[in-house]
Amino acid sequence: MIQSLQEPYPELLRQAEGLFAGERDPWANAANAAALLWERLPELNWAGFYFMRGGGLIVGPFQGRPACVRIPLGHGVCGTAAARRETVIVQDVHAFAGHITCDAASNSEIVVPLVAQGRLLGVLDLDSPRCGRFAPADAEGLEYFAACMVAACDWRLAGIDDIGGC
Ligand code: SME
Repeated sequence: MIQSLQEPYPELLRQAEGLFAGERDPWANAANAAALLWERLPELNWAGFYFMRGGGLIVGPFQGRPACVRIPLGHGVCGTAAARRETVIVQDVHAFAGHITCDAASNSEIVVPLVAQGRLLGVLDLDSPRCGRFAPADAEGLEYFAACMVAACDWRLAGIDDIGGC
């Protein structure tokens, strides 16, 4: 499975599993996850998380420039991916109606929802200064990465809203 992913995701997944091993705290794992993505993936200017709080998204651990703190569901690329519970790739953020600019250097973006047993926990968000930086192979690799992180953590420790559980 991991072997079928394109580079650099197989190695990234192995490193993530190593980082998460023996640690169930969502904040610790999210902080290391953001740092790992930032270090291993080229051409990024932001890598990190937003988590569900008060019915919307609030910024979590990240690397990059300071970002907008709260994003309502359905707003921006993050809120759109969260509301749809599906990965959104935006090749040119300037052509995405409602895109929220946190860093003027961003030109493309990918957002992957974090979902555990039907419960929306938040999103993983990566920005790039290069238009068209993110391909379907990135979506596949990052969805594995997100699933790996979701499985590694005890989300009861996170104080995340319980919305949409099943
Ligand atoms: N561009 C995002 C906002 C978050 S920053 O990129 C870190 C959006 O449109 O939701």
